[in-house]
Amino acid sequence: MKIETLARKGILKITSYVPGKSIEEVQKEFGVKRWTKLASNENLLGPSPKAVHAIQKELSKIYLYPDGPCTILRKAIAERFAIPERMVIISNGADNLILMIANAFLNEGEEVLMADPTFSVYTNVTQIMGGKPIKVKLKEFTHDLESMLKKVNRKTKLVFICNPNNPTGTAVSLEAFNHFLSCLPKHLIVVLDEAYGEFAEGVFHPNGIDYIREREQVITLRTFSKVYGLAGLRIGYALGREDLVSCLYQVRDPFPVHRLAQVAAVGALNDEDHAIQSIQLVNEGKKYLYKELDRMGFFYVPSQANFIFVDFEIDSEEIFQALLREGIIVRPGRVWGYPTFARVTIGRMKDNRKFIKALKKIYGR
Ligand SMILES: Cc1ncc(COP(=O)(O)O)c(C=O)c1O
Repeated sequence: MKIETLARKGILKITSYVPGKSIEEVQKEFGVKRWTKLASNENLLGPSPKAVHAIQKELSKIYLYPDGPCTILRKAIAERFAIPERMVIISNGADNLILMIANAFLNEGEEVLMADPTFSVYTNVTQIMGGKPIKVKLKEFTHDLESMLKKVNRKTKLVFICNPNNPTGTAVSLEAFNHFLSCLPKHLIVVLDEAYGEFAEGVFHPNGIDYIREREQVITLRTFSKVYGLAGLRIGYALGREDLVSCLYQVRDPFPVHRLAQVAAVGALNDEDHAIQSIQLVNEGKKYLYKELDRMGFFYVPSQANFIFVDFEIDSEEIFQALLREGIIVRPGRVWGYPTFARVTIGRMKDNRKFIKALKKIYGR
């Protein structure tokens, strides 16, 4: 029987997620080198030593199933934000929570509003559920909330606001976001994806935690992959009104987060110094990269995240290949409709210097 008949309606048309190239992939293609991966916005400071220690202690227990609801970690997160535990749900990465949100709330044919470009998983999960992605172009690299409002209708069910936005690194202003929320009808849910929230500077941007307390229709997403440096363990969480979160529990796998991830996340959450150091590293690297990019005359979007969206003035695939030859992996911008841009993760100073040295060599500037 043909696969078109076997597959669920629409499944074959889904645009699958294209991740940044992994070190293993480039090693296979280009041989063993000292690779510097600036393609996936990981924390190049590495994991918190407390997380590593917690994993070492837990290793011999991996024959036991993990604690399904992640009791200890959930309590720690709830205490951190001073909210009831029932407002917290943990799963194997914010990616998985995004799928769970679509699974729990999106009916076939309903619309999902998002920016263009933004984190592409929103489109994938919408298509998986038979929903319709409605994309609104960014304005000056930032969410155009006014134009997004105009696209809201009775079929709109979910609105994803990626704040700071991946790939541009911009954050919406507090004022614009509050106005946006106040104009929305009550039949839809706003998902505030704050995967990079810890890197956003100042009090001028919305903080999801303020909205789950006060407002009815906001779910906030956070991850241990970025500031906490645990991307390889796959663990993230969502916060929201109790009845919204209970819908997510309805579609949750029984044991989505393994034992090592749970204990490591508790360790990382209790290591405030490591989180602060990670943020400082990004801020210091950002300053250096801005200065060097300015000197070389490249346009970039000022970022509230741990990456910078840079215009390299030539096809992004060309700069991607040229940097690969220098042992550096970045994320080319063509997939986001910016063919001359690439997204570059801010690393340790030695990574940033290696990147700038490579640019000098490639461009002779
Ligand atoms: C905006 C955004 N949301 C969610 C995620 C997924 O995070 P996780 O690693 O927890 O699945 C990412 C990962 O890069 C991201 O950029």
